[in-house]
Amino acid sequence: MRLRDKVAIITGAGTGIGEAIAHKFAREGARLVVSGLPADPVQDVAEAIASAGGQVRPHLGDLAEELDARACVQLALQSFGSLDVLVSNAGIFIANAETDAYRIEDFDRTIRNNVRTAFLMTKFALPHLQTSRGNIVFTGSEAGLNGSPNFTPYGGSKGFLHAFMKGVALEQAPYGVRANCVCPGPIDTAWTRGEDSPIPLAGQAGIGAMVPLGRRGTPEEIANVIAFLASDEASYVTGALWLADGGVTPAKGDIGAHVPADPRRAPDGVLTLKHSHDGLKGKEVYRAAE
Ligand SMILES: NC(=O)c1ccc[n+]([C@@H]2O[C@H](COP(=O)([O-])OP(=O)(O)OC[C@H]3O[C@@H](n4cnc5c(N)ncnc54)[C@H](O)[C@@H]3O)[C@@H](O)[C@H]2O)c1
Repeated sequence: MRLRDKVAIITGAGTGIGEAIAHKFAREGARLVVSGLPADPVQDVAEAIASAGGQVRPHLGDLAEELDARACVQLALQSFGSLDVLVSNAGIFIANAETDAYRIEDFDRTIRNNVRTAFLMTKFALPHLQTSRGNIVFTGSEAGLNGSPNFTPYGGSKGFLHAFMKGVALEQAPYGVRANCVCPGPIDTAWTRGEDSPIPLAGQAGIGAMVPLGRRGTPEEIANVIAFLASDEASYVTGALWLADGGVTPAKGDIGAHVPADPRRAPDGVLTLKHSHDGLKGKEVYRAAE
């Protein structure tokens, strides 16, 4: 129960990694606002947590909109009286095209949903995190460190978050507020597996070989790291880019292709997740190669 009685907002909590963060935080004793776009299965995630005894409020809205972002923070305060943790996890990955073919509308969508959401939620949460001496955990990406061909604006949006997080960490340290960023590698969500993904199926088949651990990460493996960073156990950690990428960042060659089946197997985990691959449902995905 490393988050016992903490009040946390989790954005992008209806699907994928966000659903796992929500369940993990609930198991660790946090009281939650789970937020996502109106079409996301946020209500379903909230009901699953509540039926297991958790305290949770769903919030539906577009967190790139000022009023929706303000309302999300207000819901936490009205429901629980304080705010200790913001997990800024919402984002999109909706196009696959070389930069000269990358549509301007997809660039704009990427910045809006990956950057503006994080800025607005941080801006509105900070006064309350200062009161509680709380913290923020952003979901960045190894792509924000290494860049990604065919998704250059996506990697750029995550690079923004990394630098933004460091600035927030430095600026807010005098208030006792920490800020950190988890940088996942390829995680087993709609983004890297299945027909909805911007990555063609042939490309998806090669993901394991790129990763020294030989496989995608699970949403729960990322949630575990975020729960630690959000907890008091990480009280001396701020301004950190925390890689959780299976070794992709230092990787050379196809180390992952040589990992035998047994160590390649993902851990079973303990969380019951229903929406790991639902994040791109209803979203327009553009693939220039097709
Ligand atoms: N899956 C990966 O391989 C991977 C790798 C590195 C980083 N990440 C990061 O992890 C985070 C979660 O990704 P995921 O794989 O779980 O994908 P996902 O699509 O399942 O989850 C993202 C959620 O954010 C929501 N969202 C997007 N824009 C929003 C907005 N304006 N307002 C409210 N909600 C919004 C989406 O609807 C979705 O439910 C993202 O920030 C992503 O950049 C993912």
